[in-house]
Amino acid sequence: MSSPQTFFITGASGSQGGAVARKLLASGHKFQALVRDPSKPSSLALQKLGATLIHGDYDDIPALQKAATGCTGVFILPVPTQTPGQELEHTQNIIAAAKAAGIKHAVCSTVTRAEESDRFSFTVPENVPVTKYWESKRGLQAAVQNAGFETWTILQPAWIMKNWIAPVSHFYFAELKGEKVLVTAFAQDTKIDFTAAEDVGSFAVKALTEKDSGLEGKIVPIASEGLTIGESADVMSEVSGVKIGWKLKSEEDIEKEKNVNPKVATQLWQRYDGTRVDIEQVKSYGIPLTSFKQFLENNKEQLLAAVQD
Ligand SMILES: NC(=O)c1ccc[n+]([C@@H]2O[C@H](COP(=O)([O-])OP(=O)(O)OC[C@H]3O[C@@H](n4cnc5c(N)ncnc54)[C@H](OP(=O)(O)O)[C@@H]3O)[C@@H](O)[C@H]2O)c1
Repeated sequence: MSSPQTFFITGASGSQGGAVARKLLASGHKFQALVRDPSKPSSLALQKLGATLIHGDYDDIPALQKAATGCTGVFILPVPTQTPGQELEHTQNIIAAAKAAGIKHAVCSTVTRAEESDRFSFTVPENVPVTKYWESKRGLQAAVQNAGFETWTILQPAWIMKNWIAPVSHFYFAELKGEKVLVTAFAQDTKIDFTAAEDVGSFAVKALTEKDSGLEGKIVPIASEGLTIGESADVMSEVSGVKIGWKLKSEEDIEKEKNVNPKVATQLWQRYDGTRVDIEQVKSYGIPLTSFKQFLENNKEQLLAAVQD
């Protein structure tokens, strides 16, 4: 193990940041986490493990500075907001605090293919959900790369597996709980690259704690496998014991919704441009990856909450 260090973690009360935090602690390191709500169960769980929590948000410069002080590396988890430009502004606030505190190593989680999103065939100006989302990720990713950290690593999740379990599934798949059906704008043969937040945590910890990790100065797409929506329904049925079906939206409905509904827009995007993760390349880093089935088994309670009435 590398000698114990202290890291500045953002998004620690959520999936990806939480995975980074728990894996850092498990490897004998410490971290300081900026949290919006220290009384949230996920914040309290981290505190119980020995984490230092700093109360604040991405607009709170003094809190960001406090959380960065004394740290050697930072995990940056930008989150989209309704306000144009704010995700980039938040990222810049985190970067500024990290740089002022003398942090040398930065790992930031964005999204697959952020840097080439201006060349997506499907990203036309009127397709607001896709255009704005990737434009923002492209800008903040560049901000991290150009901030002057000694090393940086960009991690790019594809389709995060928790979208398929409660509570997030209620948003992504409104018909899942009642009708037991995944209704989407994917095509029947569209492969969806699945990413476990835990795996983002594993890559982040390697990049932050290992010298010559092989991840320095790299943009690293992450997924463990590609499944069609039908295959994902089969795995959900197998693990939950509840028969889950799938249905494709009509092309007519998709036409009506694609420029205004982010779910339809991104599922359709997956048909045309898509995440395109080279899974063999991901495996080449030698970091254990979580299959969709394993993820569902590990989170069975939330799977059952997604599919049972
Ligand atoms: N869903 C997908 O398939 C997918 C795919 C690729 C990339 N992504 C990206 O992944 C990111 C979400 O990651 P996740 O799954 O780990 O999300 P998550 O579980 O919802 O966690 C988000 C974390 O960010 C914190 N946060 C949000 N806004 C904040 C603010 N203004 N100030 C301080 N903290 C703030 C949240 O704090 P609270 O606990 O207080 O809410 C929480 O800790 C998004 O940027 C999304 O674009 C998602």
